[in-house]
Amino acid sequence: MTEFLTLRPRATPPDHPATRLDNYWLPFTPNRDFKREPRLFSRASGMYYFDPQGRPVIDGASGLFATAAGHARTEIADAVHRQLSELDFTPSFYRSHPLAFEAASRIAGLLPTGLDRVFFVNSGSEAVDSAMKIALAYHRARGEGRRTLFVSRERAYHGVNFGGVALSGLVNNRRAFANAGPDAVHMRHTWLAQNAFSRGQPEHGADLADDLLRLIELHGAETIAAVFVEPIAGSTGVLVPPKGYLERLRAICDRHGLLLVFDEVICGFGRTGKAFAAQSFGVRPDIITMAKAITNGAQPMGAVAVDRRIHDAVIDAAPDDAIEFFHGYTWSAHPAACAACIASLDIYERENLFARGEALAPIFETRLHALRDLPVVADIRNYGLLAGIDLKPADKPGQRGYAVQKALFDAGLHLKTTGDAAILAPALVAQPAHLDEIFDVLRRVLARQS
Ligand SMILES: Cc1ncc(COP(=O)(O)O)c(C=O)c1O
Repeated sequence: MTEFLTLRPRATPPDHPATRLDNYWLPFTPNRDFKREPRLFSRASGMYYFDPQGRPVIDGASGLFATAAGHARTEIADAVHRQLSELDFTPSFYRSHPLAFEAASRIAGLLPTGLDRVFFVNSGSEAVDSAMKIALAYHRARGEGRRTLFVSRERAYHGVNFGGVALSGLVNNRRAFANAGPDAVHMRHTWLAQNAFSRGQPEHGADLADDLLRLIELHGAETIAAVFVEPIAGSTGVLVPPKGYLERLRAICDRHGLLLVFDEVICGFGRTGKAFAAQSFGVRPDIITMAKAITNGAQPMGAVAVDRRIHDAVIDAAPDDAIEFFHGYTWSAHPAACAACIASLDIYERENLFARGEALAPIFETRLHALRDLPVVADIRNYGLLAGIDLKPADKPGQRGYAVQKALFDAGLHLKTTGDAAILAPALVAQPAHLDEIFDVLRRVLARQS
């Protein structure tokens, strides 16, 4: 809590542009309510945000699952500053720069063996849509161009671009954009009442993977390109895969020639105790998407890690001097993002953060499940430093979660809510005392809900 001592309240004059709230249209936010009662952060350090009045708000969600090494790491800020002063921008097509190759090889070093061809993008949503295109390009390169259907899951969140929306299993994210984009069909989600209050991987539900067999039977394996799952479905409220479930998906994909894609935008970079959830669960997908903690949240960046065999099939299908994959972004492998990525990976390694997160997880689990006695708590799920708490709904679905999220901010705790689920994902640098503070505030606020 030493951050309190360096606090400097910042006075904003009444006519300053920052006091005008009309122009900025916030994403995934009730804008009118927000602008009636804005809740802003103006500074961050370590485990804390500070509001414009200088009041600390402990961060129980790594911002939005991004700041694994804590906030405002000077090593990252310095690396970005240095990079922008030296080489601010390189065209990403036909040109590149050394840090792009270094970042790719550092990421490859963290991945399961052979999953080591890295395509850079600028967000999780772009990673997902790029992975979908890679899957299509792969099948086409092998003469299986009929494989254009994707399989996803109810309650899945794969970002907001049209590919990710097609995969989405969250109704609000689909409703307004119905049936635009690629074709996707959905397996059931893995939440089961009999698994309530499971610690770690639940016992029941491996057989839910057999939904994939039913979809194969209905649509034909020869029409399916890839199966996308979050190893732990994060944004929907943290659904941990039942024991044996991911293994079964892998076996079915292998039998039918389907690519298995793990969307690790939340799980990646130590959230589950290992670099990637693929390693925590011992299941090797063909493609992994990542973002968020790839730069410790300090620069927009995402990536798609691709099995060498998939990469080579796409590359080798094109003539030697031709573009092999007609896809990419102006800011793919932006120099500042690469600098932030390398500096973040340096911190993760130097401070042994994945192992530290893994060591903290049992303490986190114990403190988390101690909330079970609260009348408003309906279910608790967790794995690594990621947890979801289902709250009993109030009059309308989502009303409780929204009220709790505002009350928590006012009480000094930031976490994410989705509907009536509260989601925790503290930074890997958290100390047990930080967890005490997070859970004390949470208990106090939830105890007031009836
Ligand atoms: C699993 C998953 N995929 C994709 C995304 C989209 O990432 P972004 O918001 O960076 O586009 C998210 C964001 O939370 C996510 O959790």
